[in-house]
Amino acid sequence: MFDIPHLDLPPLVGACGTVRLPGSKSISNRVLLLAALAAGTTELHDLLDSDDTAVMLGALRTLGCGVARGARDAQHWRITGLAGRLALHEADLFLGNAGTAMRPLAATLALLAATQGGSFTLRGTARMHERPIGDLVDALRPLGCTIDELGAPGYPPLRLRGRPGGQLALERPIRVRGDVSSQFLSALLLALPLAAGAHDITIDVEGELISRPYVEITLALLARFGIAVQREGWSRFTIAPGSTYRSPGALHVEGDASSASYFVAAGAIAAAGGAPVRIEGVGSDSIQGDIAFVDAARAMGARVASGPGWIEVRRGRWPLTGLTIDATPIPDAAMTLAVMALYADGPSRITGIASWRVKETDRIAAMAAELRKLGATVVEGPDFIEVSPPPAARDWRAAAIETYDDHRMAMCASLAAFNPLAGAHVPLRILDPRCVAKTFPEYFEALLGLAQAAPADVPVLAIDGPTASGKGTLAAAVARALGFHLLDSGALYRATGLAAAWDGVTLDDEPRVAALAAALQLRFGQGDDAGRTWLRGRDVSDELRLEATGLAASRVSALPAVRAALHGLQLACRRAPGLVADGRDMGTVVFPGATLKVFLTASAEKRAERRHKQLISKGISTNIADLRADLEARDERDRKRAVAPLKPAADALLLDNSALDIDESVACVLGWWQERSPFELARRRLA
Ligand code: C5P
Repeated sequence: MFDIPHLDLPPLVGACGTVRLPGSKSISNRVLLLAALAAGTTELHDLLDSDDTAVMLGALRTLGCGVARGARDAQHWRITGLAGRLALHEADLFLGNAGTAMRPLAATLALLAATQGGSFTLRGTARMHERPIGDLVDALRPLGCTIDELGAPGYPPLRLRGRPGGQLALERPIRVRGDVSSQFLSALLLALPLAAGAHDITIDVEGELISRPYVEITLALLARFGIAVQREGWSRFTIAPGSTYRSPGALHVEGDASSASYFVAAGAIAAAGGAPVRIEGVGSDSIQGDIAFVDAARAMGARVASGPGWIEVRRGRWPLTGLTIDATPIPDAAMTLAVMALYADGPSRITGIASWRVKETDRIAAMAAELRKLGATVVEGPDFIEVSPPPAARDWRAAAIETYDDHRMAMCASLAAFNPLAGAHVPLRILDPRCVAKTFPEYFEALLGLAQAAPADVPVLAIDGPTASGKGTLAAAVARALGFHLLDSGALYRATGLAAAWDGVTLDDEPRVAALAAALQLRFGQGDDAGRTWLRGRDVSDELRLEATGLAASRVSALPAVRAALHGLQLACRRAPGLVADGRDMGTVVFPGATLKVFLTASAEKRAERRHKQLISKGISTNIADLRADLEARDERDRKRAVAPLKPAADALLLDNSALDIDESVACVLGWWQERSPFELARRRLA
């Protein structure tokens, strides 16, 4: 996940390959609640791992449900339910900004407290406290539920109270408004089987029900848990007498159809010619309404094929065709259409989206503001948005996209990085990219796994310097701060030295050492394994750092054939969103066109001291004088060698970090980057 203040995306020129979607948020949080209300244990597979499901899991755990994660598969959970009986009667639950947790838990706990007694408080983020819940409160109170609005009337936080033995008034139909959010109706449908007795329970929907497909998800999942709901049109729903939640034993969560929309769009915009964008985890058999987004994408020009559990998308008509659509059935995925509209031959008008105004943010206002920054013309109304693409390629702007703590704003906006396909060529900045964690923590990794950028557009930050100058630590910290890939080129020479030792090849046997370098089976750890390295499947992270390995590296690195053998491997590390590369010749030989070149110049004395401290902390005893002599001998060899000698590139910025700690060095390099990043240069050029 990109846990950084902003992520710069280079201009992207194509997309192809396969993406496996995380589980659907709507399904995940519904089945969690149903499993919690049922008796016995439910095995949930492919559950979404995100902020919104984390708050639901946390709430269920607090309420006394059995919540256990599968040992081998992080998306596998085992939920042991309460069988409709409260295990404790008081709790204070924090539900973040998860509407799919707040609404159904409010209904569930209101009914349980009213009949079994208790007091439950539900809170969320500041934005959650601005998202309406009054219609649900108004539906529950006439049944005999006691609900205190602890903040503004009609909004969370709420307290749900009651005494044991309380009775619910269920003879008359329960009335709920359906025209602000369908989640109120879904919440009642999920919770009311708790109160099923000898009679029908009827819910009447007032006003035109919006987002019907989400209600269909609710009904389909209730059916999986043994609860049949009769429906008359979309205005009356009846729960049969004697309904009880019955666990299906095991259940697989489909991939998120709303999340699929970004990849459908990427295919429609950027998968031209050869291979398509293939999406796995959701397909033609989906129970999610947002799957209908595929039809809208087709209407704009996408070529889509699909089957059970998969979708394949290619570019069809190009440019895309402007679209007029009533998006009432697909409110979430419709946001993606607003961004696809940037690539259309005329304006697109999306109506039926009043609900956008009460989502994670006011999505109509947010979308209008951000698309305008990119150069589009946008007209907005209470329940519609109309987007006209930038009139010409030169009208696209390098925009810093505000994301409003709204995962969908961030994911949608990323599609504007394909602007070269509209003739433009501008990088894109996504502010607070971490907000995608709400439903798709690895979204940007997934997108960048499919997207192509011209190598020249992928920024490189080269950090060269002598042995023990702190390059490695500095490079890793800078890469983390920018969300860039990291190339520790020294590790390639070190691994080559190790491989030679393993195979009994002498270090001056140039052809054989070069052959080893060319066939190096080296793997760098990602994510949780970052910082670890495997050679031929063996974890060599510690061996690589040994002094002896460094010495061997210094010898093999002087061999021209070895350097040539490792060249391609290093170039291949230049992948979007960018690369931080450290070594001796990053700025001079491997990436001569690097965006920023830094050369470290710490004194030999200081470097020997640092290395000494490092070794002591590992329990290895050495003396400073020997270390210093060693360093200087290696530097000397690196400086004097015929190929790629250690020296600053003509355009490198020198950083003497002798008197700086690591944070100060990082701040200095990031300051230089801020001035020179492609985004900054483009913004100035186009201002
Ligand atoms: O940076 P590190 O100490 O891991 O590098 C080990 C050795 O590999 C260095 O002493 C140097 O001789 C060699 N090297 C190189 N070119 C690079 C990186 C490292 O010659 N780009």
